[in-house]
Amino acid sequence: MKLSEREIVGSGFRYPIELHEDFVGLSEKLSSLKKVSHVFVLTNREIAGIYEKYITKELKNTSIPFSFIYLKAGEKNKHIDRVKKVYQQLIEKDADRNAVIVAFGGGVVGDFAGFIAATYQRGIRFVQVPTTLLASVDSSVGGKVAVNVDSGKNMVGAFYQPEFVFAPLFTLSTLPKKEWSCGIAEVVKHTFLDGGAFLETLSTRKRSDFFEKSDTVRYAIEESVRVKARIVAEDERESGLRAVLNLGHTTGHAIESLTAYKKYSHGEAVSVGLVTALLLSKSILGFSESNFQKAISLMNQLELPTVLEEKPELVLQHMEHDKKKDGNTLKFVLLEDFGKPKFGVPVDRKMILETLKLHKGMKLNG
Ligand code: NAD
Ligand code: GLY
Repeated sequence: MKLSEREIVGSGFRYPIELHEDFVGLSEKLSSLKKVSHVFVLTNREIAGIYEKYITKELKNTSIPFSFIYLKAGEKNKHIDRVKKVYQQLIEKDADRNAVIVAFGGGVVGDFAGFIAATYQRGIRFVQVPTTLLASVDSSVGGKVAVNVDSGKNMVGAFYQPEFVFAPLFTLSTLPKKEWSCGIAEVVKHTFLDGGAFLETLSTRKRSDFFEKSDTVRYAIEESVRVKARIVAEDERESGLRAVLNLGHTTGHAIESLTAYKKYSHGEAVSVGLVTALLLSKSILGFSESNFQKAISLMNQLELPTVLEEKPELVLQHMEHDKKKDGNTLKFVLLEDFGKPKFGVPVDRKMILETLKLHKGMKLNG
């Protein structure tokens, strides 16, 4: 059953983002694409183990032939070294330029499958079928596709938009609890960027509502997609405004890299990074103390980490590797107010260090 639909319209692209209860309707959407020779579902074994039979039942409703290609689960497999094997599989199965890839999984599958689609035979069509909250609220929308190389995450990629996004919400019922923080942190980021009713409504919810109340998860996805689509439509290639989507990420990435990607999930690290960004926002852009307290209450309600446990000096050291560093200047996305982000704000190292020290000393989760 289709639950709702949004559209993203940018210069040179336009596609629907649909929320569905289950897979019903996916075959119809695929059949509506012109001249599809074959559908290749790229997924991982974990997801296939649970959902292959359901998606297969739906795909049998089309006359289009389809096959599955399996990736190994986990970020380390979103790697350039895995790409060749998938190209080979596509070639062995005679995939031509009218083949369509279905990226069926979380952000890892989505980024990887999108990268394959962007490059195989100079680009074939693909669709996103997200199965994690993170992928539903963030990575399936906006067309950033990428793989990792040994020296860094998402170092090789493209801006390559899908034909459509089809989010089957029932798949979230099997998402491990620890994976929810990634998506919830990005939802919170979107509420800070947007302010207004989205923030007010989320402030009335607690973490368990995401698992137990389908209206909460649906609302969070619909609104997140609205926020992200508006930004991407204006600036697909991150020449300016799209950078606001990196709120919290400068500190977040530094913490992830400092802890060798083992202690925090990406969402947890971003969550801590959001707090540093809000503290800098207070000092530099006059973000108010009451807004700061409101943000911390929301994050506590949603059980997101806020406390900085790492040594400030080390966090700063790891910020030096930030991909978005401009020359020698460290730049942040900060907020003047909820709904009023500013990107590319230069902050000197002394102030960053003082703020990180302040953050580390704060009791935030009481
Ligand atoms: P993920 O794709 O690794 O999925 C997390 C885990 O959950 C995996 O083990 C997966 O197999 C499992 N899983 C997925 N769906 C499931 C389901 N319905 N039931 C049970 N298990 C399920 O993680 P993620 O958080 O979705 O994505 C993270 C990736 O997204 C990172 O690589 C990040 O760089 C990327 N990302 C991309 C963008 C973008 O704009 N392209 C934005 C944000 C993040
Ligand atoms: N997740 C950041 C972006 O899509 O730009």
